[in-house]
Amino acid sequence: MTAEEQTRSVSDNAAHYGVNEWGDDYFSVNQNGLVCANAKVSGQSLQVPLMDMVAGLEERGHAMPVLLRIENILDSRISAINESFARAIAQCEYQGQYRGVFPIKVNQQCHVIEEITKFGEQYHHGLEAGSKAELIIAMSHLRDPDACIVCNGYKDAEFIQLGLLARKLGMNCFFVVETPSEIGIILEQSRLLGIEPRIGVRVKLAAKVEGHWFEDSGERSLFGLSNIQLVSVIDQLRDANMLHCLELMHFHIGSQIPNIRNIRNGVQEACRYYIDLKREGAPLGFIDLGGGLAVDYTGASTNETHSKNYSLDEYTVDIVETLSEHFNAADVPHPTIITESGRATVAYSSVLLFNILEVSRFKALSLPSAPADDSSEIVVNIWQALQSLSIDTLQECCNDALHYREEAQSMFRQGLLSVRELSTVENIYYELLQRTRALLPQMKRIPPELQNLEESIADIYYGNFSLFQSLPDSWAIDQIFPVMPIHRLDETPTNPAVIADITCDSDGKIDLFANAEGESKNLMLHEMRNGDEYYLGVFLVGAYQETLGDLHNLFGDTHVVSVRITENGHFEFVEEIQGDSIGDVLSYVEYNPKELFESLRIKAEKAVKRGTISVTQRRDMLNVFKNSLDGYTYFERDH
Ligand SMILES: Cc1ncc(COP(=O)(O)O)c(C=O)c1O
Repeated sequence: MTAEEQTRSVSDNAAHYGVNEWGDDYFSVNQNGLVCANAKVSGQSLQVPLMDMVAGLEERGHAMPVLLRIENILDSRISAINESFARAIAQCEYQGQYRGVFPIKVNQQCHVIEEITKFGEQYHHGLEAGSKAELIIAMSHLRDPDACIVCNGYKDAEFIQLGLLARKLGMNCFFVVETPSEIGIILEQSRLLGIEPRIGVRVKLAAKVEGHWFEDSGERSLFGLSNIQLVSVIDQLRDANMLHCLELMHFHIGSQIPNIRNIRNGVQEACRYYIDLKREGAPLGFIDLGGGLAVDYTGASTNETHSKNYSLDEYTVDIVETLSEHFNAADVPHPTIITESGRATVAYSSVLLFNILEVSRFKALSLPSAPADDSSEIVVNIWQALQSLSIDTLQECCNDALHYREEAQSMFRQGLLSVRELSTVENIYYELLQRTRALLPQMKRIPPELQNLEESIADIYYGNFSLFQSLPDSWAIDQIFPVMPIHRLDETPTNPAVIADITCDSDGKIDLFANAEGESKNLMLHEMRNGDEYYLGVFLVGAYQETLGDLHNLFGDTHVVSVRITENGHFEFVEEIQGDSIGDVLSYVEYNPKELFESLRIKAEKAVKRGTISVTQRRDMLNVFKNSLDGYTYFERDH
């Protein structure tokens, strides 16, 4: 292959997986066909192949699967959001400031929160807490007195006490009133502790959004005050002489909002509430727009659920412009803008890496050159269908083959066909389907019954990961994540495939992908090479996936490794968290690993007494038990 051909093939392959679209400059493919993480370090643009990181991980003894967090990307997202708002504020001559808060629920992992609060300090980036546990995280991590803590969710007296103490410690902590009953608790605790609260109200907007989270919007949304309740809360505050504590107005119309028009409509309606709350006598000064800034998981730039039809700059300009217009018209001072972007902050920085263990094919394994003389009639019939296959007879031959295969299965059930003959029929059947697939592109119009052919004969690549543990949204809400091989992109992939995990659960598979041509039920993958590992990456998995995962089949947490790209394209592993051992996951479901080991020891000792195993065999056996309990829950290659 000439250098030019190789480059062309690499860029074509990169284009096929859409990495330049969904990767948003954080990921790309280099000329050697390797997927790289990109970062700017000391003004230098650097590209580091993920395969170099895999090699580094394996040298350090970390088996796949691994969740890789790339700190530079997380930092870059925080900068991008803050700097985009700063530019929009300057462009629209907006008089207020921007203060981002990261909703802890989107990724609660300690190292992520540490990085957000440490790096975000230069922008006064704060945290959003939806529970007492999250408030404790926020209070202990935020050092910047100018950053905000926004408390959403149901709040009991203890939650309020914690937040009031945060005020006492000099933190900007707001309680967002979600239900009318909360106001009484806030006022009572404030009186008992002698600390004035900073209060926010969450309004329920009528504006509806598109996308998966549409139920978060509109009058039937679960959280927030209806306008009837809002007026009653204002009256309660006024009666208690506490209306001066109402400093923030909040709304959240949904996560992953794909259509910018919905965002603009929401902001417009929110402005009306803000202006009227001011007229009611609330001082306000902060408007919190919640989350919703979407991630383009498919890279298609459309208003479909897994995409978005706007850039970050369009989002910030649309918001700031709408606020300016409305507040200028009403002669209301410009408030500080808060957003609670979760997904758009953390999704890009995590990649799930795993190796492929095996491939199951729907191809003929052994095809006879012609049916044997004593073959059953059904074998001869399906063989003839295969021989007659051409572009003109395609539909008829496929129908015949399907019919003969069903008949063969029925004859087998009745004992009229041997398993060997059935296997010959199936070999011929799959050969016919594969040849049909190769002919389909020549057809002007693909008949409806052949439109799903690609899916029905796609290979199954078994990946060393658990969908339920590492990609729960792929299972629960059919979330599309970008998936692709992280190497060998100088070779064109030839095999349409779906990906199965190792839980052996029929739901444990990825069979919806996005590529340059749109959504697809299969993904093109390379032929496995004997003895070589084949690595895939699932990208943009930093938001919502880590704590929602479950222990299906007792596959535990994967290893998590945080990496930082440093000068000259080097990188360092800044944190390595060992995944769960088998002993760990057993203890999560209330087994005691020591007792399990003891029970196995007693069984082995009895076997020695009976003379069924030797003492040496007993020792080896107990070593296997011990190593298993200490070992990784995922498939480990023998080293
Ligand atoms: C109140 C609130 N704020 C912020 C978020 C984060 O949203 P996103 O991840 O879309 O930024 C959510 C998520 O649903 C939320 O409920």
